[in-house]
Amino acid sequence: MSHSIWMVEMKNPGNPRTAPERPGAHADDADRPADDADRPAGGADRPAPLRGSSTLFTLDPGTAHLNHGSYGAVPVPVQRYQARLRAEMERDPDGFFLTAPDRVGRARAEIATALGGDPARLALVTNVTEGVAVALDSIPLGERDQVLVTDHGYGVVTRAAERRAAEAGAAVRCVRISPHAPDAEAVAERVLAAVTPRTRVAVLDLVTSPTARTVATPALLAALRSRGVVTVVDAAHAPGALPVDLGGAAGGADFWVGNLHKWAFAPRAAAVLAVDRPWRPRVRPLTFSWEHDRGFPRRVEWRGTFDYTPWLAAPAGFALLNRIGAEQLRAHNAGLAAHGQRLLVERAGLRALPDVPGLGMRTVRLPSGVAEREHAAKALMVAVHKGLNTRIAVRPWQGGGILRISAQLYNRPEEYLRLADGLAGLITR
Ligand SMILES: Cc1ncc(COP(=O)(O)O)c(C=O)c1O
Repeated sequence: MSHSIWMVEMKNPGNPRTAPERPGAHADDADRPADDADRPAGGADRPAPLRGSSTLFTLDPGTAHLNHGSYGAVPVPVQRYQARLRAEMERDPDGFFLTAPDRVGRARAEIATALGGDPARLALVTNVTEGVAVALDSIPLGERDQVLVTDHGYGVVTRAAERRAAEAGAAVRCVRISPHAPDAEAVAERVLAAVTPRTRVAVLDLVTSPTARTVATPALLAALRSRGVVTVVDAAHAPGALPVDLGGAAGGADFWVGNLHKWAFAPRAAAVLAVDRPWRPRVRPLTFSWEHDRGFPRRVEWRGTFDYTPWLAAPAGFALLNRIGAEQLRAHNAGLAAHGQRLLVERAGLRALPDVPGLGMRTVRLPSGVAEREHAAKALMVAVHKGLNTRIAVRPWQGGGILRISAQLYNRPEEYLRLADGLAGLITR
């Protein structure tokens, strides 16, 4: 995307459907410093809102969206940029699709730069679900092999590993890790203790979904590599949420898959699959491509008639992140998530679980007997939405479910207070 297009988009980022949260907020709020009316009174750990926080999203203002981590939220300038790309596609489909492969290549190069990757070792995919499936399909597995996963892994990723292993006659070993394990070193110890001479692949999270903690540290990836274990990193929550430097390859892993539509402000269906050098010729896309003979990454990316606009608009998400100030935004989100977690501990009496410093997601443990099964966890999410107009993530866990809050530019400390004060009345065993 050219710089000039970006400037045009940013001049008018207002959302006509979202009522300003404070009188006088207007469309070019993103360009003005937050004034004192934006700042909550008192509370040293309550971060002040950043510029653009009340105008950049089209979220329902009646709901507290404390679950950015699940599906993200696309900022208005990025929505508009994608809408323009779609309009272009509808004006001249032939012209659009003729130039699309080269435009995708340029978008990939911009995204690679933002992530410290090499555009030749990185393919755009629709999401982590797809990227992990591609990785698993590309790794040869035999009957004596073992695939390592953890019980903090994302459900469908673990199931994909199980299916792949079953097809090859291999086994899956699930490492159980206490949600209270104090730090990443303790987690790494558990994982390494489960490695055997048969362990062929480990599928590990950079940030786990149910517990928002790190498993795949650089040290653990290096230790697994030295033991001959192929690593697939589920980095669904990394781009935009944490500083990412793929080191020109796959961030110390063999395969690394990250969503851009969660924390990097891309439209949904935008993700990257980074692959370390030896694997590139062996990557097997899920569907055969017209670009097959051009090798990786084009054979993974080009899937015929398809909506490529999320990928083409993804650089606009990174541009917005930089315009807001990626570091400043991360500090805001981490501070607000920590504030929310503290309220849940102090006012709702819940136990804080270990966190990833600098991350805009935190978790607390629900009491024993609460949300231990899938249906109960879902029921609690529905009850919190209906009763408190608040969206949260709850994951079932034996011994007490896990409640995850996210914090993003558009969130406010009061929203966490409402959750913390209203939760007790909704928790039923
Ligand atoms: C750790 C993790 N992996 C994978 C996914 C799947 O992401 P997607 O639905 O975009 O494929 C999620 C989604 O929340 C996740 O949290």
